[in-house]
Amino acid sequence: MEHIKINLTQPLEWLGNKIRLLDQTELPAKEVYLDIKDYRDIVDAIRTMKIRGAPAIGVVGAYGIALGVQQIKVKGKASFLKELSTVIEAIAGSRPTARNLFWAVERMDRIAHSGKSVADIKRLLIDEAVRIHTEEVAATRELSKNGARLIKDGMTILTHCNTGPLAAPGYGTALGVIIYADQQGKKIKVYADETRPLLQGARLTVWELKKVGIPVTLITDSMAGSFMRLGKIDCVIVGADRIAANGDTANKIGTYSLAVLAKEHGIPFYIAAPTSTIDHSLESGADIPIEHRKSEEVTRIKGVRIAPAGIKVMNPAFDITPAKYITAIVTEKGIIRKLRVI
Ligand code: MRU
Repeated sequence: MEHIKINLTQPLEWLGNKIRLLDQTELPAKEVYLDIKDYRDIVDAIRTMKIRGAPAIGVVGAYGIALGVQQIKVKGKASFLKELSTVIEAIAGSRPTARNLFWAVERMDRIAHSGKSVADIKRLLIDEAVRIHTEEVAATRELSKNGARLIKDGMTILTHCNTGPLAAPGYGTALGVIIYADQQGKKIKVYADETRPLLQGARLTVWELKKVGIPVTLITDSMAGSFMRLGKIDCVIVGADRIAANGDTANKIGTYSLAVLAKEHGIPFYIAAPTSTIDHSLESGADIPIEHRKSEEVTRIKGVRIAPAGIKVMNPAFDITPAKYITAIVTEKGIIRKLRVI
């Protein structure tokens, strides 16, 4: 099987009794690693986006539960499961939009209930978290390989937010596709949107692409439409936080505008995500919960105020792109076009 051979910086590492996270709020200025043992610190790391990106928070959420139960001291199974539900609720309450977090939490909850004793459950939960991590790494590798079939030699690709290994352990999602295609020897160029308000494109995507040597040009979010009109973009590829059963997709705020612009300019618009992002229980995007974050993320950049004090702010972290704007969804199982796997 064809594999890419480059070293990709990973966002997290399981060390047996603790988890090591690369603090993404410090990038690109500093590479700061945090060793975490307490599940409440995992909740905080997800909420404050020290770790972020849908697949990454699913994996770290699973490890958070595995760590959380090690702190439970009760011996009886019934009271243990009650305390487990407190840990699960805290992890599940950290961020609302990414399906991957709830997918991982549900897997952890199911496995816990299959355990015979407290010691058995504690061991099962660690094994399941490691399995989730391993499976997600494999899924991002496969989806990157599948998606690379859509990328032709010489293409210029526009991407939004950050979807590299930092956001999806292993290879990444949209950025994984780009990295995989580059490794196949295709000469690719990338435009990366800065992605206001938290600048995941400027801080993280550009950092990851520069590290692997893929030519990238940083643009502000408002430049994308003009660049499409000028014929500078051959396709758009982004990730997803939750995909409803009809294909409607929640992703970083600004994705919807790119999809509409791409349609107007006849440019293919691709979503890349592992199947852990798909929520079959939701009929359409209208049912996807959208996270609203604090106003300071808009009124300040890296702590520096850029708007007058007390100004009214809206800060939805995600938007919904209706399926009609999506050319194809790339997963580890194949490429879905009009909900038909090819
Ligand atoms: O708020 P973030 O930085 O967690 O948002 C991340 C995104 O929107 C990504 O595009 C999405 O999680 C897919 S990532 C692999």
